[in-house]
Amino acid sequence: MAQYDVIVIGAGPGGYVAAIRCAQLGLKTAVVEGRETLGGTCLNVGCIPSKALLHATHQLHEAEHNFATMGLKGKAPSVDWPTMQEYKQSVVDGNTKGIEFLFKKNKIDWLKGWGSIPAAGKVKVGDETYETKNIIVATGSIPSALPGITVDNEAGLVVDSTGALSLPKIPKKMIVVGAGVIGLELGSVYKRLGAEVTVVEFLDNITPGMDGEVQKNLQKILKKQGMEFILGAAVQSVETTKTKAKLTYKLRKDESEHTLDADCVLVATGRKAYTDGLGLADLGVEMTDRGQVKTDAHWATSVKGIYAIGDAITGPMLAHKAEDEGMACAEVLAGKHGHVNYSVIPGVIYTHPEVASVGATEESLKAEGRAYKVGKFPFMGNARAKAVFASEGFVKIIADKDTDRVLGAHIIGPAAGDMIHEICVAMEFGASAQDVALTCHAHPTYSEAVREAALACGDGAIHV
Ligand code: NAI
Repeated sequence: MAQYDVIVIGAGPGGYVAAIRCAQLGLKTAVVEGRETLGGTCLNVGCIPSKALLHATHQLHEAEHNFATMGLKGKAPSVDWPTMQEYKQSVVDGNTKGIEFLFKKNKIDWLKGWGSIPAAGKVKVGDETYETKNIIVATGSIPSALPGITVDNEAGLVVDSTGALSLPKIPKKMIVVGAGVIGLELGSVYKRLGAEVTVVEFLDNITPGMDGEVQKNLQKILKKQGMEFILGAAVQSVETTKTKAKLTYKLRKDESEHTLDADCVLVATGRKAYTDGLGLADLGVEMTDRGQVKTDAHWATSVKGIYAIGDAITGPMLAHKAEDEGMACAEVLAGKHGHVNYSVIPGVIYTHPEVASVGATEESLKAEGRAYKVGKFPFMGNARAKAVFASEGFVKIIADKDTDRVLGAHIIGPAAGDMIHEICVAMEFGASAQDVALTCHAHPTYSEAVREAALACGDGAIHV
């Protein structure tokens, strides 16, 4: 029987990154994965396929709205949905095969099947039981169900994010339940493809937890793009006929009940940790009251030799947070000092414009009672953004009032998801807003808006 140093259960961004780092650090490593392909939710039915659809539909939007202005005349392209689906699948295949290649390169064994842990130091896959010094649980998350709603991805009428990536046809009317990341990204895809999209959200604002100004601005921009919002509405149920869905919601302010019809309902009300079938309860692994695996600061569970990372534990459910934990956990297992700085984890929403944020919000600092200052710069003042019809939004940097240390940043605008990393690096180095402001930024780039926002924390921005 093969004897491993580490067996990782789950080959998503947390698990496969952990495995690669373990192998690089000289540990004999295997990964258990029951899907046909590696990469987990992110590569198969999450970030990667959704980015393909967001990219394709953004090109359509550009052709329909901006080409003629630039002197690119002609008929706007029509949508061939099956071909767009094939393109999406080819992007997924390229990425998942890439992970297979990395496993071979790093001599990582892929144990195909669904794993369980009969005892610490043992992992069972099918009829085989493997011995291992350490186990990393990286089993991720699944969409959480909403009472009164039955999701049926095959039928395509009431779907979760997995079903919404592969709808049999483009709906005419779509209801999105939940104005979080998934709802707004996939809602944008179908809006651009011509669907009427109504987002029904329980809270009084979209994108919970984000900076309040960003929430309001993003909602305004998406509304301008044609997305409808019903806020403060608790969804009660969805009834379906063969081709239609009727959604009932209650407005929280007056308890009045309303209905909406659609030919597709996307339920995007969050995800929950997935650890079914592992046998954690029998082993006595402690869990949180939200069903996540409890770990210490070094990803160790309450059972010696069993570690857990990613969506299966606490913290934001983000692929890059899982990757960081995967690398750091591997380092701990190799006797090094793995560390994740949880206060500098960026979050990005891939709408158009993109939204990106890191660190403190004004709201969180007010709650903390910490004195801060804000430097803001609108993309209206950025030459590059104006040239490419992308002048909506702003960069907002929040710095400590006395020390000028950067505490957070919030960006709505072109390539926001890439630009945010300048602030992440600044925060990792404990930089002041002035440090960012004194750094030469190439012209003409979107990133100049970051520098201008940093300047606005001091003596003022130039181009506004
Ligand atoms: P979410 O937690 O971001 O948003 C769910 C929304 O549904 C919330 O606004 C919540 O108030 C609302 N809601 C809950 N119950 C409701 C009800 N009964 N009626 C109406 N609204 C209700 O969850 P989402 O969008 O499903 O995403 C799941 C996870 O996946 C998140 O942690 C997200 O960060 C992650 N993700 C990240 C992406 C990215 O980084 N770009 C892309 C996709 C997902």
